Amino acid sequence: MADCGAGGDNHPNGPLQARPGVAWAGLEVIHSPGDNPTPKADPVSDTSSPRGPLRRILEASRPARPWQDGDQLPWSDPAFSRRMLDVHLDPATHMASRAPDVIRAHVDWLLEQLKARAGTPGPWRVLDVGCGPGLYVHELAARGHAGCGFDFAPAPLRWARDHAVANSLDAVFLEADLTALPGDFAALAGAPFDAVTFWFGEFHSFRPEQARAFLPRLASLLRPGGLFVLEYQPWDLFVKEDAATWSAVDSSPFGARPHLWLEEFAWDEDARAEIHVHWIVDADTGETSRFAQCNQAWQDDELLDALAAAGIADVRTHPPITGVADEFEFPVLVGKRS
Ligand SMILES: C[S@@+](CC[C@H](N)C(=O)[O-])C[C@H]1O[C@@H](n2cnc3c(N)ncnc32)[C@H](O)[C@@H]1O
Repeated sequence: MADCGAGGDNHPNGPLQARPGVAWAGLEVIHSPGDNPTPKADPVSDTSSPRGPLRRILEASRPARPWQDGDQLPWSDPAFSRRMLDVHLDPATHMASRAPDVIRAHVDWLLEQLKARAGTPGPWRVLDVGCGPGLYVHELAARGHAGCGFDFAPAPLRWARDHAVANSLDAVFLEADLTALPGDFAALAGAPFDAVTFWFGEFHSFRPEQARAFLPRLASLLRPGGLFVLEYQPWDLFVKEDAATWSAVDSSPFGARPHLWLEEFAWDEDARAEIHVHWIVDADTGETSRFAQCNQAWQDDELLDALAAAGIADVRTHPPITGVADEFEFPVLVGKRS
């Protein structure tokens, strides 16, 4: 991959986003009694077990296997998405969504890319994949560009729409699952776009076969010469060793009540993926829930091949845009639809 980094040739990234003490850029969540338990949670409540609720944690087979023992966060679960919305919108953290000044800097950078490479004068039309509460789309629209974002998390989408209406922004938000886009998605979204963006390394939370299926769909939403922008986690930044940690919290995206939050991290060399397991132990009832999230590592050449197969060429690598936090900001690939 060509490296055209403004501001440096080697990205300064250190630990990855979902390691001990950091937790969840995309985690895997929830299940709290009395707080709309998440349907996707494992059938973990085993307070009735004669052997005690913690046995399940003790006796779990280790290490957990990526994609087999869990996959993605329950983003689309209503209760989880409500709690996660607070994290997205918290300006004091880069978790789930980066802080507003970082997003503004990312949008500055995106507009520079469009100016330099899109071949058309603005204003531009941008589609944001997995837009969450629409912070990028809002920022673009506030600067006179037309944006469309899609996601399948209900609470952030609702907030995104309300904010756009309240501020008279030219922004559209669609509820759609990236792994099951409807046949008429291009028409619904208003394709073609000058750029399709996929921020935050969320790309890695999909299995390789899913990614290879959705990349051509996303590319087809670009006009020829339009930019595909992918924030990604390079192979070397995956921590390839196992670890465990725990914390005691009053609440978290996993639940609204006090709980112990036990985390296990395992790297699977065969799958070339990591799995992050969350055990949630309710402080009052002892009820135990298990959640897991996976991140697939890609070698550079594999990723380039997948992009080429999707019709994305002339791919350049940029270092993290602001360098604000190694674990919450990654390099960015920018290619063009051929
Ligand atoms: C880490 S958040 C980033 C949100 C937003 N891109 C930002 O940077 O502010 C990942 C987002 O991807 C969304 N997402 C994950 N899987 C998805 C899928 N299959 N279809 C649509 N959106 C998805 C989640 O709901 C979540 O809003």
